[in-house]
Amino acid sequence: MGLFNFFTQEIAIDLGTANTLIIQNNKVVVDEPSIVAIDRKTGITIAVGKKAMQMHEKTHDNIKTVRPLKDGVIADFQAAESMIEGLIDMMGPRRKFFNHMKMVICIPSGITEVEKRAVFDSAEHVDAKETYLIHEPMAAALGIGLDVEEPVGNMIIDIGGGTTEIAVIALSGIVCDQSIRIAGDEFTNDIMNYMKRQHNILIGERSSEQIKIHVGSALPDLPNPPEDFPVNGRDLMTGIPKQITVSYSEISHALDKSISKIEDAILKALENTPPELASDIYRTGLYLTGGGALLRGLDTRISAKTKLPVYVAEDPLRAVVRGTGIALKNTSRFTFLIDRKSV
Ligand SMILES: Nc1ncnc2c1ncn2[C@@H]1O[C@H](COP(=O)(O)OP(=O)(O)OP(=O)(O)O)[C@@H](O)[C@H]1O
Ligand SMILES: [Mg+2]
Repeated sequence: MGLFNFFTQEIAIDLGTANTLIIQNNKVVVDEPSIVAIDRKTGITIAVGKKAMQMHEKTHDNIKTVRPLKDGVIADFQAAESMIEGLIDMMGPRRKFFNHMKMVICIPSGITEVEKRAVFDSAEHVDAKETYLIHEPMAAALGIGLDVEEPVGNMIIDIGGGTTEIAVIALSGIVCDQSIRIAGDEFTNDIMNYMKRQHNILIGERSSEQIKIHVGSALPDLPNPPEDFPVNGRDLMTGIPKQITVSYSEISHALDKSISKIEDAILKALENTPPELASDIYRTGLYLTGGGALLRGLDTRISAKTKLPVYVAEDPLRAVVRGTGIALKNTSRFTFLIDRKSV
């Protein structure tokens, strides 16, 4: 290790609506939900990540929980900064002196110039001396091991918490992209609304996410169906807690509309793809990343709709951060990274 390396701390951050991950020295050192708990009176952050999530929807008047990102972009800067700071502190004590912190942060492709500048500002506030941004679909493509510099088109579909990003990547650039604000959070909402409408039962965000993970499905018929899942909530008629069980095919109906919107966006992206790249994609197929890629039957459903092969990335929740980590090691080579001067 050279002297310079000793003073350099290099980290790659996937700042997501649902989860924030940090890679250091090729290892995922932080993987936490993107949430902070704040003392309302003093404004002091009392917990970040999993600890704050445990408090979510169970707080009293003095504490509030905040998810600093909404729809893939930072909605509450102060909360976002204290979250990033708290998560960086989880990696161990920071070396305050002679420290050169270098960061690559991934951002959604639909982000505005003003929002980009705001991310640079936040990085500076947490002591970063050298910051680069990378677009999320590019990071996802690197993370699943594609050669993004080749003159070959690849289509990436990243379904996160806040946004679904669909992009065609070739020659180190994003040729065309579609970003829609329908992803995992919307699925969770759909389930909450369905339970209210259909079963007269009120459930919280976390229970709804558990239903999605245990019996979520994009198809009403699955070859390997999951078992029915028990759900606890409050009966809207009596006001008393009660338990019911739900099946995956019910949930597939609840999610149907949102999934159709994602399918439409994919078809639109394919329509906008230049013909030479379209013929590459016909051969290479579509790659699914992000937590939404784990929804049962989604790959089969998209494949049926597009008549193209669809692949779910290995460990899809970590594809973006892995790619951001690869970018971190190639900051001088990758021309698609954005630095402060270019915004
Ligand atoms: N097994 C699963 N089935 C369905 N959805 C899942 C599963 N596991 C996680 N998810 C969902 O994936 C989403 C989180 O994915 P991810 O971490 O990729 O999002 P993010 O990067 O934080 O968000 P964004 O990229 O939009 O900013 C959440 O909505 C979560 O509920
Ligand atoms: Mg993401």
